[in-house]
Amino acid sequence: MKVLITGAGGQLGRDLVRVLGGRHDCAAFTRQQLDIADEKAVRRLIAEAKPEVIVHAAAYTKVDQAEAEPEETYRINAIGAGHVAISAESVGARMVYVSTDYVFDGTKGEPYDEQDRTNPLSVYGKSKLLGEQFVQAVCPHHFIVRTSWLYGKNGSNFVTKVLALAERQQELTVVDDQFGSPTYTYDLAECIGGLLETDRYGIYHAANRGFCSRWTLAKTILELTGRTGITVRPARSDDYVLPAPRPAHSAFSDRGLRLAGLPRMRDWKTALKAFLRSDWGKTDENDDRRGSNEAAG
Ligand SMILES: NC(=O)c1ccc[n+]([C@@H]2O[C@H](COP(=O)([O-])OP(=O)(O)OC[C@H]3O[C@@H](n4cnc5c(N)ncnc54)[C@H](OP(=O)(O)O)[C@@H]3O)[C@@H](O)[C@H]2O)c1
Repeated sequence: MKVLITGAGGQLGRDLVRVLGGRHDCAAFTRQQLDIADEKAVRRLIAEAKPEVIVHAAAYTKVDQAEAEPEETYRINAIGAGHVAISAESVGARMVYVSTDYVFDGTKGEPYDEQDRTNPLSVYGKSKLLGEQFVQAVCPHHFIVRTSWLYGKNGSNFVTKVLALAERQQELTVVDDQFGSPTYTYDLAECIGGLLETDRYGIYHAANRGFCSRWTLAKTILELTGRTGITVRPARSDDYVLPAPRPAHSAFSDRGLRLAGLPRMRDWKTALKAFLRSDWGKTDENDDRRGSNEAAG
């Protein structure tokens, strides 16, 4: 398949290139190569490339900064997604739009499935939801893939931040009242690769299975890397007032993937182990894949 990837310089984008590049004829574009908010550039490039599938991973992802920059956030996450969707439709391409757990308010008290009512709390969440709606309105052959708490080798994320802090401090303080499903970008790229082989369009929740609090995640990262001497103190979100409100409990159910007969993603702890074992870029991909199959089986 001829696949075009936006946001190819981001943490998910790089794993998409790694995973899909081995199976498809991939053309990948970083922000410098394609600004998705530039309507003319998007139209021109997609008309020339004539992809069969567009995987749209580009986004404005600075959740707190988005509160101070709503115009820029909507310009990229909503209107930019609209430009990509219009161009996808004009060349007959299918589209994958990567979305977020932040489209929910986190008050359900149990994992969200694809039918649940959205109610984003932040500018980032609202802009991503509007992006979903533009894609749904314009491009009928779409997969909306909501994911959560991403970490990967190429980017700054919760896992890399905890490890960096643990190099400098003997004590960390982490909130224990936010729950979600940590997700390895490599696994998400594999899941998207699987979806592309189908024509089962619609919304999917794609995260590593199960959920935990941020505090449990930090403790687990330290345990798995043998940093057992470091204390992780629990805190409440109210103690850290951040510009953007976060959903308290945004874990996902993978009902959509199961109903579509697609492989389930492995559980978050197995994925985290594989990520930490892979030694920052010296990935043993066979090892990763073996883990994935075991969990799916
Ligand atoms: N990170 C998470 O925890 C998380 C959770 C749920 C969903 N998601 C979604 O997953 C997707 C991938 O996120 P990620 O974690 O890989 O984020 P990321 O590392 O920030 O990657 C996003 C990429 O998009 C690029 N970008 C920003 N504005 C652009 C523009 N106008 N045109 C083209 N590219 C642009 C960024 O480039 P610059 O860095 O140069 O700005 C960056 O390379 C996004 O759709 C995000 O909303 C992420």
